[in-house]
Parts: sequence; structure tokens; C-alpha cells
Amino acid sequence: MHDVLARLGIESTHSGAAGADGFFTTSGRIQEIHSPGNGELLGRVQLATKEEYEKVVADAADAFLRWRVLPAPKRGEIVRQVGEALRVHKDDLGRLISLEVGKVLSEGLGEVQESIDMADLAVGMSRQLCGRTMHSERPGHRMYEQWHPLGVVGIITAFNFPNAVWAWNAMVAAICGDTMVWKPSLKAPLTAIATHRICDEVFRANGFPGVLGLVIGDDADVGDTMIRDRRMPLISATGSTRMGRHVGQVVAGRLGRSLLELGGNNAVIVHEDADLDLALRGVAFGAVGTAGQRCTSTRRLYVHDSVYDAFLPRLLAAYRTMPIGDPLAEGTLVGPLIDADAVSMFEAAVARAQEEGGELLVGGSAVDRSGFYVQPTVIAANEGMAITREETFAPILYVFRYSDLDQAIAAQNAVDQGLSSAIFTDGFRTSQAFLSHAGSDCGIANVNIGTSGAEIGGAFGGEKDTGGGREAGSDAWKAYMRRQTCTLNYTKELPLAQGVRFDV
Ligand code: UN1
Repeated sequence: MHDVLARLGIESTHSGAAGADGFFTTSGRIQEIHSPGNGELLGRVQLATKEEYEKVVADAADAFLRWRVLPAPKRGEIVRQVGEALRVHKDDLGRLISLEVGKVLSEGLGEVQESIDMADLAVGMSRQLCGRTMHSERPGHRMYEQWHPLGVVGIITAFNFPNAVWAWNAMVAAICGDTMVWKPSLKAPLTAIATHRICDEVFRANGFPGVLGLVIGDDADVGDTMIRDRRMPLISATGSTRMGRHVGQVVAGRLGRSLLELGGNNAVIVHEDADLDLALRGVAFGAVGTAGQRCTSTRRLYVHDSVYDAFLPRLLAAYRTMPIGDPLAEGTLVGPLIDADAVSMFEAAVARAQEEGGELLVGGSAVDRSGFYVQPTVIAANEGMAITREETFAPILYVFRYSDLDQAIAAQNAVDQGLSSAIFTDGFRTSQAFLSHAGSDCGIANVNIGTSGAEIGGAFGGEKDTGGGREAGSDAWKAYMRRQTCTLNYTKELPLAQGVRFDV
């Protein structure tokens, strides 16, 4: 067993559920977790059943009654301590993320940093859950709105950010006065267990067990029960559009709220006046970072005719020399995909792109070594290729030439997804056109920065098939609270609004 697993308190076969009394014995099937980098068995998790899910939700519902009345800045103080605990364990957690999902170490560490940043942000937010005041039309009346805690929040996360996406939700939900139940991806449960243990210990030490719940179980069993559960006013789900469409429909069916952060098909436009050095680095990180397994990964590249021949050879040369291998080894830039299915999907997409008329410029194959490695791939594409409108979770970049900026912007918008977008240009008019109402239709629009690697201070999410949800910073906290409009009368009269008379 790895030292890092031992240091994080992960047993060789670990329970898949934690409620107010911490981890308890689960009775579902046993899932083995192998490192995608070399196939090594990292551990086993005994999944939770529906009954065990019930206990965790009941504990979270119970904890809500106490947690919601603790003043928000006091909740913030506990979240501050969570941030400190994450700092202490940053190195181990970052390594575990690399081992379990295969992202390179600096990205594993970066992910934990993103969670620490979220804790810091949430501490400040805890003193700023501000409502507005309005002027009443009636004399001697006052109107204002206030924000109350919502209840138990269900958090569903994907494998690719097994720590930070939970933190986006959990840190904010916690300061808002909500308790929560986390259902992590079955592809990354060990990171969830370690993260839960570190953060829950802090809540427990402060006298608030049950605020953080964890249930690791099958979608058909635990996941479906969770999204139908009327005790959960909000389900926040990150993952594929297919999954999110199902979650959104089921939750809407019971008039619950869902916060969806789903697929992306993000494009970069490299305009004629772009700084090509910047563009090269932005595109390479966006398309190949995390082996193309971010929802924000760059999947399409539009290059202006006049710089195409200067830019493309440089990009292809960079692709050819990017070190592929052990994600924990110094210098590696490209780790493995998450599993064998992901490699098959990569191969199928490359084959389909070629059938549809794409020309393979670099990469295109799985790497012949143990683990799920593939070559970063660039394919010269045309708008007729249906595959370019789909999200394949792999480092495949489709490249297009363009001559007219409006057409490039229209093409970048002409996909079902609407998460992230970027343009490289030194031109004021060009960048403003990209950011105008007629510009990018995505939730994130960047200038001279790639599509991935967003900071947590902004609201994160996107439009169309990306699901419309916003998480992390700005006013994303509002999704985790309920709004109440209050009108107070401090007179001896009872005037009715809109001049209505009803004298009795
Ligand atoms: C995701 O892939 O689900 O902007 C999240 C980024 C990261 C988050 C990605 N901060 O790339």
C-alpha cells in the first residue's frame, strides 16, 4: 500500500459511507480502484446500499436543524479551519489525485489549491450573504429580502476533479447553512474518502457532525434515489450532458432545483494579430492538460488564414515533444486517460474523424505501455464533420482555418455545448467583438488566455447543453439559499398595495 494512502487514513478495503458517526460499515458490492497510470491496485471500497444512503441523509437532515442557526460568520470560521486542514494535507491529497485519476502532479496539487482557494473565498462570503432593501410604496413600511439556508444539498461529482468540484459546492453550501451528501464518481472514490475525512474532522471538532455526508454507491441505486429525494431541495451535478439531462428532468419533476455543470466543446480562436507565443502555450495547456479530460479542455481551434502556416507547425512540434508518462514523475506533461473505455473512445473518435474527412496531423494512437496512455492528437477538420460537435474526453484537437472573424465566432458557437471560449488577439475591436452580445455564447469568454484553468473567484459554468448552472465565486452562493422578501409595517394603518380598498 502506498504511504500516501496510509497517511490519509485509507484502509485497504474502505467503507463507502459516512454520516454523523463518521464512516460506518457498508454492505454493497466491493469496487476495486486501480491507478490508470500503471494498473496498480490502490484499494477497495465497499459501496453503500439504499439503506445506508438513508442513514447519511437522515443524519444530514438532522444536522441541518443545528447548523442553519449558527451565524454565518461562525460557519465561515469553521470553513477557515477546513482550509487550514487542506493546506496541511495538500501534498498527500495532490499525490493521491495523481495516483487515482492520473493527472500530473502539479495539476493534482493545483486541484487541492483550488479547494483551499474555495475555502478562503467562502470565509469572506460568510460575512457577505447580502440581501437588498427596497422602498415600499406604502408609508411607514419597509421592504427587504433576506437569504436563508436551503437544507440538505446533494452533490454529484465526476472523476476528473475529484476534490475541487466538491469544494466549489461544499465550501459555499457550508457557509450558506446547508448540510450535504456527496456522491463522488466511482472512478475516484479514494480521493473523496480522504477529502471527506480531512474536512469532516474539522466539523466534528467544532461540534457539528453530520454536516458533511458521503455516500459512494451505484448510480442506479444511490444516485437515482438521491435525485428523487424530496428532502434535497438542491442537487448540484457535474458530469456528462447525458447524465445532467436525466438529473435535471427528474429533479424538475419534483420541482426541486438543480445546478448543472455538464459537457463542454470549447474553442480557441487565434486571430491574425495574435501573439503566437501566448497562443501556443494557451492552446497546448488547454488541449493537452489533464490529458484533455477537463470540461474546459480546448477541443476546437480556429486559426486565421494569415497565421495558419506560421502557427500550426509550431503547435505540432510542441505536440511531438510533450513528455507522456507516469503522472507523478518530474517533467511529465501528459498522464494517462482514466480507464480502458476512455482509450477506446479516443480511438473511435480518431477513426470517425478520419472517416468524416479529417486529416491526422499528429498523434492518433494509444501509447504502447501499461496504463491508459494516448498520444496528444491534432486533426485538420472541416465544419461538415459531426464528430467535432461532440465532446470526447481525450486530448484530441480539431483545427479549422478561417478568414472572416464573424464566421469564426459563429462556428465556435455552432455546437450544443456552451462552457468556455477564448480568443488570442492584440486588437481591441477584435476582442470586443468576441465579448459583445453577438460574440461568444459561452459562460466563460477569455482574451489571451486559454479555455481551461479558470480561477474560483468568478462564477463557473456554461449555457445550452452545459446545463446553465454557476458554481464557485461571484454570486453563485444564491443557488444554495432560499430568498425571502419581507415587508414590515410600523404604523397603525393597514394600507393595501396597488391602492386596493377592502374596508371591514
Ligand atoms: C471541470 O473540468 O469539471 O477551469 C472543472 C478549469 C478548472 C475546473 C475544471 N478550474 O479548468
